[in-house]
Amino acid sequence: MEQMLEDLKRIEAEAKSRFEQVGKQEELNELRVKYLGKKGELTAILKGMGKLSGEDRPKVGQIANEIRQSLEEVISAKTKELKEAALKRQIEEEKIDISLAGTKLEAGHIHPLTRIIDEIKEIFLGMGYEIGEGPEIENDYNNFEGLNLPKDHPARDMQDSFYITEDTLLRTHTSPMQVRTMAAKVPEYPVKVICPGRVFRRDDDATHSPMFHQVEGLVIDENISMADLKGTLLKVMKQLFGEDREIRLRPSYFPFTEPSTEVDVSCGICGGKGCRTCSDTGWLEILGAGMVHPNVLEMAGYDSSKLQGFAFGLGVERIAMLKYGIDDLRVFYDNDIRFLGEF
Ligand code: PHE
Repeated sequence: MEQMLEDLKRIEAEAKSRFEQVGKQEELNELRVKYLGKKGELTAILKGMGKLSGEDRPKVGQIANEIRQSLEEVISAKTKELKEAALKRQIEEEKIDISLAGTKLEAGHIHPLTRIIDEIKEIFLGMGYEIGEGPEIENDYNNFEGLNLPKDHPARDMQDSFYITEDTLLRTHTSPMQVRTMAAKVPEYPVKVICPGRVFRRDDDATHSPMFHQVEGLVIDENISMADLKGTLLKVMKQLFGEDREIRLRPSYFPFTEPSTEVDVSCGICGGKGCRTCSDTGWLEILGAGMVHPNVLEMAGYDSSKLQGFAFGLGVERIAMLKYGIDDLRVFYDNDIRFLGEF
């Protein structure tokens, strides 16, 4: 019996120290089988218990059970320790380094032309104008005839057009919106509207694109004069380009306005002294305008002896080029991120 107890103590001490040193769960499992399994060392000793006297047997059995229990405790403590260590390691390894550069989300932004149109809209909204929109495919009447440009009028040649049928074409200007607006409002007034949109002409060079943008303006009321037109445009140009800008009206010709005028804004690069951008004139041409022709009012059903109006057509690309110092308008349509990213 003494020998047996000694063996048990030895196995207990040996098993404990080996369990403690284990670094992996699998090793611990193997050691458990080695000491406590069916063919394990502890079991082997207990098998010899048959040789003991009836008196000694329960004593040894009790001790063996205590040893088994204490070894199981060591194992479960160790298992817990290993699990915690594994979890800790996993957390360490999976830690996200927020100081690392991530994948950048490239955000786009408003196209410079759209921005100019938005700015123009804001300015006119602030002056009590409505905003209208109309189709890019127009009929001959709205694009020409209703604007005092009958079929064989020579001024039609100035706008070499894209015809779809004999009677339909891509609008060559936003002025058909004058005709549409009047048709929708007559006989009501005042009319105060701007209509931005795309227009199309058979032109293609550094300063002309077959597709470009205009903003049409139309005001109809009693007692409207050229002074109202000039005052309005001056205010708009100052808001668009800066308070130090001046405008200049030059006589011009449009079949749908009388008198007609070309409007220049003072050059912002040289301050009006003359430079390359303004061809040494100190002025930059920016829009066409005039007093609505009585024929146009009458055709729309307005009484031209009682009402007057002014109208204007702003070139959006023109304004963008002057505002941002761009000398080739084609860059607006190239979709080159290097260019668009500048804005
Ligand atoms: N529609 C003219 C053009 O495209 C501009 C304009 C508009 C002139 C309104 C007078 C009045 O050239």
